[in-house]
Parts: sequence; structure tokens; C-alpha cells
Amino acid sequence: MTTKWLDGRVIENRQWTDTLFSLRVEAPRLEFQAGQFVRIALDTVTGDEGSRVARAFSFVNPPEDPVLEFYGVIVPEGPLSPRLARLRAGDALHIASNPAGFLVLREVPDARTLWLLSTGTGIAPFLSILRSEAPWQRFREVVLVHAVRHARELTYRDMISSLQKQRGPALRYVSVVSREAAPGSLAGRIPAAIGDGRLEATAGTRLAAETSQVLLCGNPDMLKDAGAALAGRGLRKHRRRAPGHVTTESFW
Ligand SMILES: Cc1cc2nc3c(=O)[nH]c(=O)nc-3n(C[C@H](O)[C@H](O)[C@H](O)COP(=O)(O)OP(=O)(O)OC[C@H]3O[C@@H](n4cnc5c(N)ncnc54)[C@H](O)[C@@H]3O)c2cc1C
Ligand SMILES: NC(=O)c1ccc[n+]([C@@H]2O[C@H](COP(=O)([O-])OP(=O)(O)OC[C@H]3O[C@@H](n4cnc5c(N)ncnc54)[C@H](OP(=O)(O)O)[C@@H]3O)[C@@H](O)[C@H]2O)c1
Repeated sequence: MTTKWLDGRVIENRQWTDTLFSLRVEAPRLEFQAGQFVRIALDTVTGDEGSRVARAFSFVNPPEDPVLEFYGVIVPEGPLSPRLARLRAGDALHIASNPAGFLVLREVPDARTLWLLSTGTGIAPFLSILRSEAPWQRFREVVLVHAVRHARELTYRDMISSLQKQRGPALRYVSVVSREAAPGSLAGRIPAAIGDGRLEATAGTRLAAETSQVLLCGNPDMLKDAGAALAGRGLRKHRRRAPGHVTTESFW
């Protein structure tokens, strides 16, 4: 099936660091669920649709927000991300008309606590989910975990703080920084912090099969290692036919 492409226009490109950027995009209305992604694309200089370079990006915005937002990192040798990072207000890009993905709360069983564990730009779909109503209606508490290399990559702090003001103790935020000492953040990686109990201690709540549903997003090695750490605590992969506790989305 050939992809139907919609025309989008950049409203703003926010540069967080040398490598991290967020695009706010005006485009025809798209139906999607919080947590899903869509392919976005640029043409090569020839403008030939056959040479269009497309990649999946998670929505940062909640579905009801008419302005689309995408959070990206420059992979220097990558064909698309360095070009997206250079876009400016007024520039055009293409957006596929068919959002997709299973990292959505509709797929997740009920529980007391929803854990959202991310590395890098993997926080994007969780920001969309957190700004929808469903998590607050279905879970008593939500723990958002953002793991990055350097503290300057702990982005979207203002948005997270304002969500915390709105939701009170129902929203806990835990940051993890792996490559420098960062006051206020856990050191190292998510799987180790699960294994030795630091993640639970910092979040102030239990991570247990009886009480928790866990969503993982970002680096595939984190998904694997965190999955193993969670399995060590009795949490297993969630499948429609065999309900469990862990739902994942790999970014590569
Ligand atoms: C379902 C899904 C949703 C995604 N959502 C996002 C998103 O919201 N934001 C985003 O930045 N990327 C996201 N990605 C990754 C994105 O599609 C591209 O791979 C990325 O933008 C790099 O594109 P590229 O063409 O420059 O390099 P590519 O050729 O696509 O990737 C080259 C290499 O870069 C590394 N890489 C790719 N993506 C990332 C990343 N996000 N963080 C760190 N290293 C990476 C991997 O080692 C990969 O093999 C998503 C991918 C999938 C499958
Ligand atoms: N972040 C940067 O400073 C930077 C700069 C220039 C370019 N880039 C490009 O961006 C990409 C990397 O982006 P990123 O830093 O957002 O993503 P990343 O490499 O996935 O790192 C994000 C976090 O995930 C952690 N992680 C890696 N493997 C893990 C595992 N097996 N289990 C648990 N956690 C794990 C990392 O810890 P560790 O630190 O321990 O690996 C880091 O804290 C690369 O392609 C690179 O070329 C990044």
C-alpha cells in the first residue's frame, strides 16, 4: 500500500542542546492515540517522491492538540535526523497519514501504579500520554523515569513540573544520568536502579507484579536489560493473549 503524505510546516524548532531539538508542526488534523508515532519525511534535493527519506517519530503532543510536536536527537551519520534539526519556522516536511503503534494505554491492563521508563528521546510518547486524561483516571500513581547521558539532556522539565503541580503526588518524576555526577538524579542506568532498589526508593512506591504496569521506550539495549531486571522481580512481557506487566517500544 502506498503511503498517503500530508503537507506539514514547521512553526518552531526548539534547540535544547547541540544534539536535541523539538519541532512544532502545523499539519492537517491526524487521528491518533497518545503514545503512538507517525512517519515524517523530507525529500532529497531533487524533490523526487521516490527519494523521500522517512523515519518514525512519536507524538509529544496529546491527540487533542492541533499543533504536532516531535522530539529528536541528531544521529550525526543518520540520513534524516541532522536535516530535521536544521529545519526552521516556515520550512516544509511531509507527514504520513497513518499514525500507528501499541505503546498506548488501551493495550495496558489496570494496575495501581503506571511506570513509564525512558531513555533519551524515548520520553516523547510518555509526554503525550501524561497530558491525556486516561492515566489519571486509571492509575493511582504514575512514575515517569527519564534516563540520559548528561544532565543537560533532562529536557521538558517545565512541562513535567507543571504536570506535577496539576496532578500532585499522583505524578512522580525520577531522572537518571549515566555519564556525569548530577545532583538530584540517580547515577548509572535504569536496570541497575531497578535491581538495587534505588528506583523504588526514589519514586517512593513499590515496583511489583501485583501493583504495577510498566512501559519501556527508547534504546533497545535498555529495553532488553530493563526487561531482564523486571523479570527478576516477577514482571513479564504483556501480550494480548497472555496478559503481563511490561509493554515496550524500541526506537531502533
Ligand atoms: C516506533 C518508533 C518511534 C520513534 N520515535 C522517535 C522519536 O520520537 N524521536 C527520535 O528522535 N527518534 C525516534 N525514533 C527513531 C527515528 O525513527 C530515527 O531512527 C532517528 O530520528 C534517526 O534517524 P536517522 O535517519 O538520522 O538515522 P537512522 O538511520 O534512522 O538511525 C541510525 C542509528 O542511530 C541511532 N538512533 C536512532 N534513533 C535514535 C534515538 N532516538 N536516540 C538515540 N539513538 C538513535 C541507532 O543506533 C540507529 O541505528 C523512533 C523510531 C521508531 C521505530
Ligand atoms: N547524548 C549525547 O551526548 C550525544 C551527542 C552527540 C550525538 N549523539 C547521538 O545520539 C545518539 C545517542 O543518543 P542518546 O544519548 O539520547 O541515547 P542513548 O545512547 O540511548 O543513551 C541514553 C541513555 O540510555 C542509557 N543506556 C544505554 N544502553 C543501556 C542499557 N543497555 N540499559 C540501560 N540503559 C542504557 C545510556 O547510558 P550510558 O551512557 O551508560 O550508555 C544513557 O543514559 C547516538 O546515535 C549519538 O550519535 C548523542
